[in-house]
Amino acid sequence: MGFVDIHSHILPGMDDGAQDLEQALQMLEWASREGTSHMIATPHYKQGKYRAAKHSVLERIRLLQEAAREQGIPIRIYPGTEILYHGELEEKLDRGELCTLNGSEYALIEFLPLEEFYYIRNAADQLLGMGYRPVLAHVERYRCFLKDADRVREIKDMGCRIQVNAGSVTGQFGGSAKRFVRKLIQEQIVDYLGTDTHDLKKRNPAMKACAEYLYQKCSRWYADAILFENAMSELLTDLSRRP
Ligand SMILES: [Fe+2]
Repeated sequence: MGFVDIHSHILPGMDDGAQDLEQALQMLEWASREGTSHMIATPHYKQGKYRAAKHSVLERIRLLQEAAREQGIPIRIYPGTEILYHGELEEKLDRGELCTLNGSEYALIEFLPLEEFYYIRNAADQLLGMGYRPVLAHVERYRCFLKDADRVREIKDMGCRIQVNAGSVTGQFGGSAKRFVRKLIQEQIVDYLGTDTHDLKKRNPAMKACAEYLYQKCSRWYADAILFENAMSELLTDLSRRP
């Protein structure tokens, strides 16, 4: 069983991630060398900037998966979207305009880095009330959580799931992000890992170094859980649910 990367900008030409098919395939090859076997494609949905509509996500996954198969890259790609929270989001999800994570009730949600905690909590409350499970994207990126780590526990206890970036665990995004995510990992608050890969440079699909750290510092059970078990059992189980 390989790792499950639940957050990636691997689909070509959809956002600020992979620019073309060739780059996407190189990123997939890299991810495969890192030990990743399953990847959820989560192009941005940001109003006025990127609009990853469900039909284009599905179409591009089909094309990329086919090309990957031809090149012998053993990674399975699933649909998703990284959605910047906004007012009419719940209605768009209900109308089926946006991809949740592999058609499950889990949706990858991001906020602006300086967003206030009360706004994030209200948004989570709203989504949970409509039957969705928000997965908070790269929790280490928001000032309100960095200021008070107990708030991560609070949002998780509401029913949200917590994703951190593999590169933050290894210090790729600075010392404070690293210390913060390592503390969350120690307290077993993190649910999923993602690379949030955008390219072949700084935002690459590296996972192996993070996994090595986890197997050294955590119980085998917890490392397995956040590297693949949680995602497999919660997001990728029932393939008939795929949109
Ligand atoms: Fe992202």
